[in-house]
Order: sequence, then C-alpha cells, then structure tokens
Amino acid sequence: MKVFHTEAEWRPIWASIFKENKKIGFIPTMGALHQGHLDLVAKSIASMDITLVSIFVNPTQFNSSDDFKNYPQTLESDLAQLEAAGAAYVFVPSVTTLYPQPTRLRFDFGDLEQVLEGKFRPGHFNGVGLVVAKLFNLIQPNRAFFGQKDLQQVAVIKRLVQDLSFTLSIEVVPTRREKDGLAMSSRNMRLKPEERQQALLLYQQLSQAKKRLLTGDLWTTVLADTEAAFSNAANTKLEYFALLHPETFEIFDSFTQDAPRSICIAAYVGQVRLIDNLPIIL
Ligand code: PAF
Repeated sequence: MKVFHTEAEWRPIWASIFKENKKIGFIPTMGALHQGHLDLVAKSIASMDITLVSIFVNPTQFNSSDDFKNYPQTLESDLAQLEAAGAAYVFVPSVTTLYPQPTRLRFDFGDLEQVLEGKFRPGHFNGVGLVVAKLFNLIQPNRAFFGQKDLQQVAVIKRLVQDLSFTLSIEVVPTRREKDGLAMSSRNMRLKPEERQQALLLYQQLSQAKKRLLTGDLWTTVLADTEAAFSNAANTKLEYFALLHPETFEIFDSFTQDAPRSICIAAYVGQVRLIDNLPIIL
C-alpha cells in the first residue's frame, strides 16, 4: 500500500493506471475508520482494479470549530486497517494541498440543503461539495463509494456529479451497525460508556417508527411519541426526526406506502451529535 500526500506524487501513478486501462475505486473519508468504512473498501476491491482511500478532516464542512477540533484523528491505526483490508493507495493531503488559497466558491444545492443537515449545519454541504469536487478532480476515479448513513450527503453528491458532469459512478453501501443497532460512526469514539447506551435511542426510535408506520399508525402520533421519548431520556436532545423522500429530501407530514420513504434522525447524546436513517419503503 502506498501513502501519498500531494497531487505531484499522484499524477505519474494515475498516468500509468490510465495507460493500463485500470479502473479506480475511490473512498473519500475523514479518517477515524471503522467497519463501515472498511465495507466501502471491500466493495471497491471486489469490483474495481485499484482501490484508493483519502483521509482528510475537511475544515470547510464543519460549522462548529469545537466539532472540528474534537473530530477523532487516528491516522496510524487507519493506515494499518487499510493495509490489512487491501487498499492500494491512501491519499493524505494537507489543508494547503487541498486549499492553497481560501476559496470563495459556493455551491447552491437548492431545496436539498434547506432541510435537516443543511438547516442545522449551515454551510456544511458547501464544504462537502467543495472537497468532494476537488478530490474527484485530483484523483479522477471511475467509481466512488459512500455510506447510506449519510443519506443527505449521498443526495448532495449525486446532484454534484450530475451538475458538474463528473464521469464517474456513485455506489451507495448500506449502513453498518453494531450488534445492538447503533450505526457505526467515527463520532461514536467520543461517547462515554453511559452515553454509548443512551445512543441506542436513535436506532430504537427509527425501527419502532418503521414497524408502526407499516402497521398503520399515523406519522403524527409516531413523531410525537419519539419527541416524548427523547424529552424523557437523560442526556439526549432530539434535533430532528423526519419522514422524507430519500432522494429529493421532500419532507412529509403523513405516511403513504406508494413511494420511496425514509426516516432521518439527528440527536445529541451528551456533546456528541449523531445521525442515522432507515428506509421505510424502498
Ligand atoms: O462522509 C465523510 O466522511 C465526509 O463528508 C467526506 C465525504 C469524506 C467529505 O469530507
């Protein structure tokens, strides 16, 4: 496995991969890797000739400087896991490599960024769009792999790929969960032991809601019960619990079974903000 840090190192490697007509699978990450990331790596290894992972904690997508400062960084163990998983290349750029000058470029993802993560984390998707577009341009992958846990991010990136005519495909990989249902996330590393237990409320509410909607309960009742469950639970704060179309992110206040629907949730457990989602109708 080769680790590189600059575009200059990558260019000649890319040229020989291109000459041999080999296909590059790309997994952009912010490090602090877990099995969810390794699932993306495994998918790429199974279907592509070359698998490249990037590790970069992107400052432009954090709307809180504390969140940026506290984001877990575990480069040494990340590299060991990627080596064991069989990745061929790891790109670890510095901030000045990706942002040689402060950029004024702004994306507008329209309705997609007016709700949920876009609303509660202003500027977040602009930062994601910037870094992902830069990485796609630098690496020139044939396919990029993203986790379904970041459902709204997936919708934004698909829009970016279409609007900027990137000639790559996007593959979405199902959310990897711990045995008790908690969605794997780099942020879970920041949970104290009692918070790790409290964090189960997110998946419990999602799965109960799914069951109830599919057996005829009204969305308004389900939503009210989830809000009450969070108000009654210690050390948690619900930010949103929303029923929506998984691609357009149109939000609904009643449930029908005749179109794709997912529920997305964001909540604080202590100081740690977690997100999750569950498809209800595919
Ligand atoms: O999902 C993430 O880890 C990040 O948002 C991404 C796509 C690597 C961009 O920094």
